Amino acid sequence: MPLVTGLEILAAARKGGYAVGAFNCHYLDMIPAVVEAAVAEESPVILQFTEGSIRSAGWSLVSAVAREVAMAAPVPVAIHLDHGPSFQAAMQAIRHGFTSVMFDGSEKPFEENVALTRQVVAAAHAVGVTVEGEIGHVGGVEDGQGTEHGWLTEPEEARRFWQETGVDYLATAFGTAHGLYKEEPRLDLERLRRIRDLVDAPLVMHGGSGVPDDQVRAAIAAGICKINVATELKEAWARALRQTLAEKPEESDPRRLLAPARAAVQAVVREKIRLFGSAGRA
Ligand code: 13P
Repeated sequence: MPLVTGLEILAAARKGGYAVGAFNCHYLDMIPAVVEAAVAEESPVILQFTEGSIRSAGWSLVSAVAREVAMAAPVPVAIHLDHGPSFQAAMQAIRHGFTSVMFDGSEKPFEENVALTRQVVAAAHAVGVTVEGEIGHVGGVEDGQGTEHGWLTEPEEARRFWQETGVDYLATAFGTAHGLYKEEPRLDLERLRRIRDLVDAPLVMHGGSGVPDDQVRAAIAAGICKINVATELKEAWARALRQTLAEKPEESDPRRLLAPARAAVQAVVREKIRLFGSAGRA
């Protein structure tokens, strides 16, 4: 299937009242693992990459694998730059065929975030690529980016930011954080509903790992259409690999060592897809 933009997938999700998983791929083999899981669930999916994970394999290789795998899949797939740190990074992603980019200016003062995000939106829209921005700041460090402590999104500020930038989908902070939670998160759903009532665009939840299922469902009902998941995939991968290494100390074939780790990633992706309600929506 041809690649689709993030907006194409998220507009359908918003209309249908479900969310689509945006799964962070930390290394190349996770790309087919995630897409195969989406195909098995007949779900649209977003493959996403931070600049850090792209740097480890290189733009050409990451984009070639992602595009090849995505276009061979019978489900809609978007390729997204997660937490794009600069205009340059967004342009690199677009040049390499990404169909969706995030510009993350959330740590900057409001006016600066607006001005920089607008530049990315103008350039991306000129070539048919859709854009995610962030207002408020989701705390926690993601692949070396971000800060420990976040601050919640002010609904009125979210409206202004969305109107002034023209972003296609908006990441907001309402109680989630990147990485492992030290205690159970408590989402501010009232805040999220107020944002949804003011912003006429799909909303994005960062820090999707470790949020209890009932809170995930409530967030989707309150307007969340894209849910980012990274940590749970890494954790499942590493746990399975450690167990395989412990159980098979003589094994040296990378394919046999890595197969259970890949299967563990797929199991998490399939479970999330069902939880988010996007199964059968391809
Ligand atoms: P988690 O690592 O908490 O799943 O967050 C992922 C994320 O928000 C990527 O942008």
